[in-house]
Amino acid sequence: MNSTIAELKAYVEQALVAAFGADLAGTDPMLNPASNPKFGDYQSNVALALAKKLGQPPRAIAEQIVQQLEVSHICEPPTVAGPGFINLELKTSYIEAQLKAIQADPRLGVAPVEQPKRIIVDYPSPNIAKEMHVGHLRPAVIGDCIARMLEFVGHDVLRISHVGDWGTPFGMLIAYLREAYPDALTTTNQLDLGDLSSFYRQAKKRFDEDENFREAARLSVVELQAGDEKTLKAWKIVCQLSSRSYRKIYDLLGISADILERGESFYNPFLPEIVEELDRLGLLVEDNGAQCVFLDGFTNKEGKPLPLIVQKSDGGYNYATTDLAAIRYRVQTDKIQRVIYPVGAEQTNHFTQIFQVGRRAGWITDEVEFIHAPFGLVLGEGGQKLKTRSGEAIRLQELLNEAIARARADLETRLKEEERQETEEFIAHAAEVVGISAVKYADLSQNRTSNYIFSYDKMLALQGNTAPYMLYAYVRVQGISRKGGIDFKQLGADCPIVLQDETELALAKHVLQFDEILSAIDLDLLPNRLCQYLFELSQKFNQFYDRCPVLQADEPLRTSRLVLSNLTAQTIKLGLSLLGIPVLERM
Ligand code: ARG
Repeated sequence: MNSTIAELKAYVEQALVAAFGADLAGTDPMLNPASNPKFGDYQSNVALALAKKLGQPPRAIAEQIVQQLEVSHICEPPTVAGPGFINLELKTSYIEAQLKAIQADPRLGVAPVEQPKRIIVDYPSPNIAKEMHVGHLRPAVIGDCIARMLEFVGHDVLRISHVGDWGTPFGMLIAYLREAYPDALTTTNQLDLGDLSSFYRQAKKRFDEDENFREAARLSVVELQAGDEKTLKAWKIVCQLSSRSYRKIYDLLGISADILERGESFYNPFLPEIVEELDRLGLLVEDNGAQCVFLDGFTNKEGKPLPLIVQKSDGGYNYATTDLAAIRYRVQTDKIQRVIYPVGAEQTNHFTQIFQVGRRAGWITDEVEFIHAPFGLVLGEGGQKLKTRSGEAIRLQELLNEAIARARADLETRLKEEERQETEEFIAHAAEVVGISAVKYADLSQNRTSNYIFSYDKMLALQGNTAPYMLYAYVRVQGISRKGGIDFKQLGADCPIVLQDETELALAKHVLQFDEILSAIDLDLLPNRLCQYLFELSQKFNQFYDRCPVLQADEPLRTSRLVLSNLTAQTIKLGLSLLGIPVLERM
C-alpha cells in the first residue's frame, strides 16, 4: 500500500507540470500534514515557494494548481486559503476504505522501504571495565529503539556493540583477578567470580589502599599491551564476566539479544595500518612526537588548526585510532551503507573529527552515511547529574529495581480497590513490565538531544505521556473484547467501516498516519516522534470511547467500532514494540 501523503505529493507534482509545464517536474510539492485540523488534513505551500520563479502572485498559482489537481477519489474539493496555501481534506469514504485495507495486515499498512539499506547501529557500546550505572541507560534504550524501527521499515540492520574492552582501566581488574582468584588462570572451568559489582568494588578498594597493588595494576597494562599470554587470559576472563553481567541488565531492559560484540580490541591488529595509510595519503603530521592529522575547521584559542592524535608519542594508539579502524572496516569489509552512533552529545567533537578524517582518507565516500545521533544527560530532580547521596553515579540495577518496586506498589493498591484476585506471578510480571517500560518510555519520549529529569513519579503516572497511560489504553481495548466476548481476529472482513462521529473520524485518520511517522524517523532518528504519535493516538481513542458506545451500538456501527478499536490497540502494540516495550493484557 502506498502512503496517502506520498500519493498526494505525486498528484500535486503532476498538477504542477500540467499547469506550468515540464520544467516543474521534480519540484518538491511541499505537502505536509496540516498544522491545524481547521485547515483540513494536508497543506501544500508550494505556490508560495514558486511565486518568484513564475512571476505570479502565489494565490493565482495555487488556483491554477488546484484546477489541475485530480484527487477527487481521495479528497474533498481542494481549497486555496490565505496567501496561497492549498488545503486538502480526506474524504470519509477514502478513510473508511483505507482502514478496511489494513484491517488484517500485521504491518498495519506500513510498506517496507523500496530501497533497503545495510545499516550498522553502534550500540550500546559501554566501557566494560566500569560498573554499570545510569549513564549506560540511554545508549542501550535509544540504540535499541532506533535499530528496531529501521529493521521494521525494512532495512538490513546490524547491531554492533563497540565495547570499550581494552586499555588502562583493565589493569586494576586483572591485578585483582590474579590476587583474589589465582586459580582462574590455570583452570579451564568457569569460576564463580561473584557478581561484577562486588568484584569491581573490591578491586577498587585494593587499588585505593595499597601502593604495591597499584604497581601490579600498572604492570598488567604493560603486559596486556605487549600481548603476554597469561595477562591476555586474565583480561578475557574479566571481559566475559563484564559481558555476562551487562547482558543480564540488557535482558531485564528488553534489549535485543541479537547484538554482535565487536569491541575496541578487535581493531588492535589494524591500528598500525591505519596510521601508515594516513601517512601514505599525506595526511599525517608529527607534532611533539605524536602522529596527528590536522583538522579543518577546528582551531585552538590562537586560531591554529587542532590536531587529532592517532598515535601518541609513546607509540600507543587511542580511542580515535580505533574508531578510524572501525570506520574503514565497516565500509570495506561490512560493506555498510549507513552507520548510526547513538552516543552522548559530549562526544560530538570526537565524531565530527573522525568522520572528517574518514572522508579525507577516502574511506567514507558519498555512497555511505556516517551519523552521530547524540543524546543529552539523565538529570536528578534538582537538575544536577543523577547521583547517589554519597555522590556516586547511580547503579543501573538499583534504578530499575526501584522503578519495579514502585510500579508494584501502585498495581497492588489498584488491584485491591477493584477486588481482583491476581496471582503473585501475574503481579510480579506486570510490575516488571510497567516499571521497566516507564523508565524506557520516559527516556524515549524526550527529544533525545536534550537532557531530561529522571522522575519516578512522572514516569509512573497513569496520566500524561507515559508508558502506563499507553499500556492502559491498550488494556482498555482488551477489556472491550473480554466484556463483549469478542474475538477481534474473527471480526468480519466483509463488514463495512462506518465513520460517523467526529471523534471516530479523528481516531481513524490518526491510525492511518502511522507509516508517515515511521518514514520521518527513518530520516531524523527521533524516537520521541513515535511516542508523541502513540500518546495522541491513546488520547484520541479515549475521546472516542468516552463518547461513542461500542458494544451497545447498533450494527453496522458496532462491528465497525470494534474494528477501529482493535486497529488502535494493534497500532499501540506495534508502536510500543518498536520502542522495545511489551504490552499487558490486564493491568
Ligand atoms: N565506549 C564508548 C563510551 O562509553 C562509546 C563508544 C561509542 N561507539 C564508538 N564507535 N565510538 O563512551
